[in-house]
Amino acid sequence: MPATTPITKAVIPAAGLGTRFLPATKAMPKEMLPVVDRPAIQYVVAEAARAGLDNVLVITGRSKRALEDHFDRVPTLEAALEEKGDEKKLSAVREASCLGDIHYVRQRDPKGLGHAVLCAERHVGDEPFAVLLGDDLIDERDELLGEMIRVQQATGGSVVALMEVPAEAISAYGCADVTPVEGESYVQVHGLVEKPAPEDAPSNLAIIGRYVLHPAVFEVLKETGPGRGGEIQLTDALQTLAKREGEGGGVYGVVFRGRRYDTGDKLSYLKAVVTLASERDDLGPELRSWLGEFVAEF
Ligand code: UTP
Repeated sequence: MPATTPITKAVIPAAGLGTRFLPATKAMPKEMLPVVDRPAIQYVVAEAARAGLDNVLVITGRSKRALEDHFDRVPTLEAALEEKGDEKKLSAVREASCLGDIHYVRQRDPKGLGHAVLCAERHVGDEPFAVLLGDDLIDERDELLGEMIRVQQATGGSVVALMEVPAEAISAYGCADVTPVEGESYVQVHGLVEKPAPEDAPSNLAIIGRYVLHPAVFEVLKETGPGRGGEIQLTDALQTLAKREGEGGGVYGVVFRGRRYDTGDKLSYLKAVVTLASERDDLGPELRSWLGEFVAEF
């Protein structure tokens, strides 16, 4: 496979149990939680589309119905809005179904992110592809995925997104051991550790939820046994690829310095909703002024 095989496919794993968000995630994937007025996953599908990836595969779990329905057309609702002449709501309803070509595959058992990515093998085939986690939102004003795609095309390896975090926060993330690449804005990744204790962390660079992967990852995942938490970890497979030379080997990192919103746990989710809502023209002015009064009362 030449290093320049163009990237057209995005994989969005959404089959996790979402235990940090129970009971809201009892009958609904956490990727469907609303962030202001759209489910989190819609922002992620839109991000993929902006980067030119309009062939999207969503890895679904036990409650896939809500996901599939959201990206589908709803003729009855659309007809009702058309009859009322409510163009604004009509275009909001249609937005999700116009984002690209969306496919679904079932992960029968939630055996970890690595296992979820392996479920994409048949759909992806022998091409590099992107993986976007549905509970990690990147501000649309900041560029990340496009840069990662460029680095994959230049190196022919796999690319992870990294972000500097305070030392005490690193144990919530995968952490990368990196060196700079001369003359380039990206770094070479030599090793990855899943959720290290701060004293064992090789850096303050956390892996965030964007990857552009060489298809060699599939063979590696098949041989990757359960790791931390008994789950098949994508980080463990990337660790193997980081040490590999030749075809499909090498892992690189793009350090993201823009705005990222984590929606996977309750507190981060609340912060994400307030931040994004307060920046919107339709909600921001009133929300900001109310927030000011609310905070002043404490
Ligand atoms: P997380 O570890 O954040 O998700 O996985 P989780 O397991 O659903 O959440 P908690 O910790 O129990 O609250 C990262 C991403 O990988 C997906 C999740 O849906 C999420 O987007 N995932 C995880 C799968 O698709 N399958 C899995 O087996 C595990």
